[in-house]
Amino acid sequence: MLSQEENELLTRVGPGTLMGNLLRRYWTPALLCGEVPESGGPPVRVRLFGENLVAFRDTSGQVGLLQENCPHRGASLYFGRNEDCALRCVYHGWAYDRDGNCVDMPSEPRSFADRIKARAYPVHESGGVVWTYMGPRETMTPFRDFGTDLLAADAAMAAKQYSSCNFIQAMEGNLDSAHISFLHQFNAIDDIPDDGSDRPGYPSNAYSMKIWRHDKSPRFEMSEEWYGYRYAAVRTTPKGHKHVRINAFVYPFNTCVANVPYGSSQGIFVPIDDTSCWRYLVTTHEQNRHGLGGPRFFEVPQYPYDKMRGQQLPSGIIPRALTAENDYCIDREAQRTVSFSGIADFVSQDLMVTESMGPVYDRTQEHLGTTDVALIRMRGMLLKAARDLAEGKGPPAVEGDLPYASIRSAEKILEPEEDWRVLGTDADPLVRKELELGAVLVD
Ligand code: FES
Ligand SMILES: [Fe+2]
Repeated sequence: MLSQEENELLTRVGPGTLMGNLLRRYWTPALLCGEVPESGGPPVRVRLFGENLVAFRDTSGQVGLLQENCPHRGASLYFGRNEDCALRCVYHGWAYDRDGNCVDMPSEPRSFADRIKARAYPVHESGGVVWTYMGPRETMTPFRDFGTDLLAADAAMAAKQYSSCNFIQAMEGNLDSAHISFLHQFNAIDDIPDDGSDRPGYPSNAYSMKIWRHDKSPRFEMSEEWYGYRYAAVRTTPKGHKHVRINAFVYPFNTCVANVPYGSSQGIFVPIDDTSCWRYLVTTHEQNRHGLGGPRFFEVPQYPYDKMRGQQLPSGIIPRALTAENDYCIDREAQRTVSFSGIADFVSQDLMVTESMGPVYDRTQEHLGTTDVALIRMRGMLLKAARDLAEGKGPPAVEGDLPYASIRSAEKILEPEEDWRVLGTDADPLVRKELELGAVLVD
């Protein structure tokens, strides 16, 4: 439970708020590269931390991110003309380059144009995402590379999906390893045969679902790290072994969710404003190489909505067919006979629970239990970092030269004395072997 004041501090992200100030100190996904594919192509609207912006790929191929309203008298630059390395407002023809300089003002003397500046944010394209830094220029740190800067443009895999709730409650879902024993359950898991992988080592993807279903009260073990934390949700397998799912939280809104054998895809919860967010999925070169490709989607037999799953617009935006307006197409018959939720796909199940809490959940009303420790810790870390920043202490994990690409999740059945804290790190023998193999393949 949080106090009203803490909940406000945690969830409000607009200009001048403490959390808004903290988030603006981190390089943040602003849009997908696929939304502005062409040099000189149409601009797109971007709303980020409650600020209305417009993005465009100028005629030289570089992306600009400007305030949406023209500095002259406020017409939207979304309707502007993308020409001559600038975005030209169609009201009176003032034109702004990607740094916000007014480079042409046909109706006024040049000396006036030199004094006009549109608010512009720096950008960096990496892994199929246009990232931006919205904090004060004097505190800007180098880009944090989670392993995407090495990716060839055609190997980049990034997608995003809209969610009509505050970013914290959306992120809490990813950090909650207990809910998979309930929300995502379906009866066909009982029919998955014993394939022999219930022993120390890596269970098959199918068998790991049986483990989640078997032990519904995982124990949580935390490990605080320089970037945030990792934790293991410990379950007992049907044959009595110790199974761990290891998730990571990375300041300020990144998550890395368990994968067999390990994973480095980032689920990033980017506030559009206080009451909505984009759920980004950014896949790293490592993940690409292993062909693991992000969170797993399981076939749920006899579902009528399968066709809706995994569809993606060319831009990379994943459309929503199941929303609050249609009650996520809940199928009560399926809820009785097929699955725990009666909602068609994993992600829509997550969206249903987190959005149905309301746009900004009132955390004075909640009752937290032992399986909520991961999200309790995340809240505590963010609240402390936001308050520290207000008192002049720099934010954690912003430096550009830290090993962000070595942050990974993992999932495994442990040997009797095995320490889960090693799994998925650079010290994990499996990771080491695959990194070496990858280096050979790249050569
Ligand atoms: S409002 Fe944009 S040029 Fe006048
Ligand atoms: Fe989930």
